[in-house]
Amino acid sequence: MRKLAIYPGSFDPVTNGHLDVIGRAAKIFDELIVGVAKQSPKNTTFTIDERVELLRDSCTDFKNVKIESFDNLLVDWTAQKNAEVIVRGLRALSDFEYEFQMALTNRKLNKRIETVFLMTREDCSCISSSMIKEIAKLGGNVNNFVPENVAAALKKKFGIR
Ligand code: COA
Repeated sequence: MRKLAIYPGSFDPVTNGHLDVIGRAAKIFDELIVGVAKQSPKNTTFTIDERVELLRDSCTDFKNVKIESFDNLLVDWTAQKNAEVIVRGLRALSDFEYEFQMALTNRKLNKRIETVFLMTREDCSCISSSMIKEIAKLGGNVNNFVPENVAAALKKKFGIR
C-alpha cells in the first residue's frame, strides 16, 4: 500500500526550513501532501492563494509532493485524504511543548492518525516565518533563509526595491 503523509502549517511564507522537512519527508513516504491552513490563528501576511502559490513554485523539484489548502480540522482533512500520518518539524526545545500538545490533541480527536517529527536541519533551526518577515520589512537580506521566489515576494509585499 502506498504510504501517504500530510505536512500541515500556515507557511506564511514557506522557508528553507520547511523545504528541508518537505524534501526529507518526501524521501520517507510515497506521497506527501503539504496542507496550507486557510484558517490560521495568526494574522497572515500572505493570502491563502499566495501561500499556496509560493509553496508550489518552491516544490517543483519534488515529484511526489502536492500542495493543497484546507479549512477544517487537520485530523478530519487528513482522514478525508486517506492519510494516517501527519509530519511536523521540530526546531528547538521551545517547539516541543506546542508540538506535544498539538500531537496529543490530534490523537484524542482521531486515534488512527499518528504524528511523526523530523528534526530540522541545524542551519534552519533558528529561523521562523515571522523573523524572516521582520528582517525583510526592515530591508535586510533574507536570501539565506528562503527560496528566491519567496525573497522576491517579500520585497514586493513590503514595497522594497
Ligand atoms: N523551519 C523553519 N521554521 C519552521 C519550521 C522549520 N522546519 N517548522 C515550523 N517553522 C516555523 C514557521 O515558520 C512558523 O513561524 P511563525 O510562528 O513565525 O509563523 C512556526 O514555526 C510554526 O509554523 P507552522 O509549522 O507553519 O505551524 P503553525 O503552527 O503555523 O500551523 C497548524 C499550525 C496549521 C498545523 C494548526 O494550527 C492546525 O492544524 N490548524 C487546523 C485546525 C486544527 O485542526 N486545529 C487543532 C489543532 S490541535
